[in-house]
Amino acid sequence: MCGIVGYIGNKKASPILINGLTRLEYRGYDSAGIATIEKNGIVVLKNKGRVSELEKILDGESINGTIGIAHTRWATHGKPSTENSHPHIDNKKNFAVVHNGIIENYHELKDFLLKNGYTFYSQTDTEIIPNLIDYYYSKDVLNDDKKVLRAIASACAELKGSFALEILSTYLPDKMIVVRKDSPLVIGRTNSENYISSDIPAILSYTKDFYLLNDYEYGILSKGSAEFFDQNLKPIKKDFVNIDWNASAAEKEGFDDFMLKEIYEQPKSIRETIGSRLSSDGSCNIEDLNLNKEYLQSLNKIYIVACGTAMHAGLAGKTMIEKICNIPTEVDIASEFRYRDPIIDEKTLVIFISQSGETADTIAALKLSKSKGAKTLAISNVIGSSITREADYTVYTHAGPEIAVASTKAYTSQVILMAILAIYFANTLQINSDLVKNLTKDILNLPLQIEDALKNVDAIRNFAKRVYNEKDIFFLGRGIDYNVALEGSLKLKEISYIHSEAYAAGELKHGPIALIENDVTVIAIMTDPILLEKTISNVQEVITRGAKTLVITNQNLGDHDFDNMITLPNTNSLISPVLSVIPLQLFAYYISKQKGLDVDKPRNLAKSVTVE
Ligand code: AGP
Repeated sequence: MCGIVGYIGNKKASPILINGLTRLEYRGYDSAGIATIEKNGIVVLKNKGRVSELEKILDGESINGTIGIAHTRWATHGKPSTENSHPHIDNKKNFAVVHNGIIENYHELKDFLLKNGYTFYSQTDTEIIPNLIDYYYSKDVLNDDKKVLRAIASACAELKGSFALEILSTYLPDKMIVVRKDSPLVIGRTNSENYISSDIPAILSYTKDFYLLNDYEYGILSKGSAEFFDQNLKPIKKDFVNIDWNASAAEKEGFDDFMLKEIYEQPKSIRETIGSRLSSDGSCNIEDLNLNKEYLQSLNKIYIVACGTAMHAGLAGKTMIEKICNIPTEVDIASEFRYRDPIIDEKTLVIFISQSGETADTIAALKLSKSKGAKTLAISNVIGSSITREADYTVYTHAGPEIAVASTKAYTSQVILMAILAIYFANTLQINSDLVKNLTKDILNLPLQIEDALKNVDAIRNFAKRVYNEKDIFFLGRGIDYNVALEGSLKLKEISYIHSEAYAAGELKHGPIALIENDVTVIAIMTDPILLEKTISNVQEVITRGAKTLVITNQNLGDHDFDNMITLPNTNSLISPVLSVIPLQLFAYYISKQKGLDVDKPRNLAKSVTVE
């Protein structure tokens, strides 16, 4: 999705803006642009294509301003083109705007502005914003120092949809104004500068102190200061938070790709997720979470709501909560949940899982749940992200910044956090203490077991070399292994563009087996001892029809005629996804590499899906 960067300080802005845009490239984009305030007014440079091409254009220009805004665009309204890329400027060239989000009522506002004599050069929803600001600015008869802010606030009050905005104005040539609603924007500060970005990793090398804006809060940023105002333009005091992510964690550190680095970081990220939350005696303490026994006993249902990979972690969470805590738990896709009028009330706990904490559908589902009286709990990786500010409770995964679009370490941290949460609930309910003790021991062993699981890399790479040209690849599993099959299949689609489906193995005979023909590749996951025999039979059925198979297991399968087998360390089947997903992550990675694709920035995909 679109990425925003901004700088205001004593240094030349353009290199800092380009650096920030490069770091936001992983979010996915089709064009890029910057605007700076120069002696003669606002200068805008933009083009369709990569940030590196924008950089070349910049080399030929004398752009020396120390205040600037920048943007990578992921087209929603209007095709990828230079005219449609941001920044956008008003007819009189007094306001330049970059925008992340979607303005839903832009047709209406455009008609209004056309009737008032404004003209438009792009097909974007964004171009109405600088013109609407100009409209309110020219209507305002007062000439005080808040005139620009008032015009921006009047324009924002008209906008329906989502927006994170950076605004430059010739009327305030030494300031920048920022505002957000349902789209991400953070402000990093030092004593003499402010850095603005859509996410923390892009500016982490400059500062670790961040201001976080709530919806409709305005920031007026200058070189060494930042003033904040609420929706009614009353001044508000805002403290900055210190984010203790290591800047080098957002670098590749010798790995070819962020995805590979993040796969190999999993022993560490799981250690961080566990932190001091679990003790070997089975006791569990989750900071800032104080749900009591009466409340948990009163629950009629838990919902887990998320998108994509985070939803797959939720599926593992459902099994854990139901098995360990006996609380009925449903998992839903956020984009479905928000529109299906779910039956929830004050006796429902709704858990939202989101790596970025900025996924538009998940945030909307959270707001809906709150409006129906449910308690909400966010599981996120990004401190201060939107979802964490909306939810009643937040628990962080602490997996460190995840840059690759394909989520790996965030998934395993989410799964383990769900296990820790289930243990916390069981302890609070005073049930299943033996199960909890054993599971806790297994969780604490996981980091070392992940290191062992990663040792299968050569076997996986060789298998990937054999099958990277396939048209279709199928994944099978039962129970919790089916959840992992879904995740393995999603990972493969995302970065290899190979058509792939995951099936509950027992469903094969009800249709999908018709797709199995000679030499088709089937990957089966089998870690649950109770379901082992059943899944083996299903795999035999596909072998009989000519499929070549890769089996991933942590059980002793004795004699078999599978083509390939990866044996993983054994663990409690409830947390086995954390180990069994590792060969699947490596498989997707090496297929993508073999095909010569851009692993970290797959086509059409964005890291944070901040619009519906
Ligand atoms: C994961 O590989 C995907 N890129 C995607 O499915 C992702 O998990 C989903 O968009 C949810 O993102 P979130 O966790 O940031 O909410």
